Amino acid sequence: MAKIVGGITTSHVPAIGRAIAGNLQQDPYWKPFFDGFPPVHDWLAKVKPDIAVVVYNDHGLNFFLDKMPTFAVGAAPEYQNADEGWGIPTLPPYAGNQALSWHVINELVEKEFDLTTCQEMLVDHAFSLPLKLLWPNEERCPVQTVPVCINTVQYPLPSAKRCFKLGKALGEAIASWDEDLRVVVIGTGGLSHQLDGKRAGFVNKDFDLAFMESLINDPEWATKYSIEELVELTGTQGVELLMWLATRAALPGKVRKVHANYHIPISNTAAGLMVMECAD
Ligand code: DHB
Ligand code: FE
Repeated sequence: MAKIVGGITTSHVPAIGRAIAGNLQQDPYWKPFFDGFPPVHDWLAKVKPDIAVVVYNDHGLNFFLDKMPTFAVGAAPEYQNADEGWGIPTLPPYAGNQALSWHVINELVEKEFDLTTCQEMLVDHAFSLPLKLLWPNEERCPVQTVPVCINTVQYPLPSAKRCFKLGKALGEAIASWDEDLRVVVIGTGGLSHQLDGKRAGFVNKDFDLAFMESLINDPEWATKYSIEELVELTGTQGVELLMWLATRAALPGKVRKVHANYHIPISNTAAGLMVMECAD
């Protein structure tokens, strides 16, 4: 059976792509952010995942406002990255694992999640940059991938409670897959940030730190908030924390915090990073 080795959650700001392309990891602005990653590289070298299930949100590359699925799962042999207009290099394609994708899709639909299934799917910065941060030295991402996309762009958004349930069902689907492979669940987005409107630049360190802590000790804590309350607390784009919540929910039982980093700001965003390992 497949084994979930743990979860990694990280922010996904496009400017990270420019910093990587420009080799700015030691630059004073970037150093506190990039210094968070070597312990994650060490952990990945230890747990040796074969496959990454990546929970992220598309920002208008694959889905636009005319067609916006609440939940979408990729089932393609390969996923291409493409230019989103941020001025960052396009990264090489990602290998899929169609067998695991279809298993996950079957299990989630069986559990009453109405998914969009994508046999062609472009993946944006929310998918490509976290994988580049995790495997910086490989030209191509060395693990197979299954993209799981949650709408955090166009209202109505799925509630925190719903995303937690999706994550739990996703974890159960992975764990019931009949192949002896090691799976890491990766959640990208957040933490607090707002890119537009009167509160542009808003961050909420107290809430972010409480949220990170809750994922370890009280994982359903954030499900008590409505989407509107989460926007109030974390900003219009801070609601991307839904991907962290779904990722935590995918991990069975109790988890141990292996590593965490938190740094304000990267661009407009409070950048968070966490590695969680299944306790048993
Ligand atoms: C920024 C953050 C995001 O999550 C994103 O998708 C795009 C931009 C930013 O802070 O610049
Ligand atoms: Fe984003």
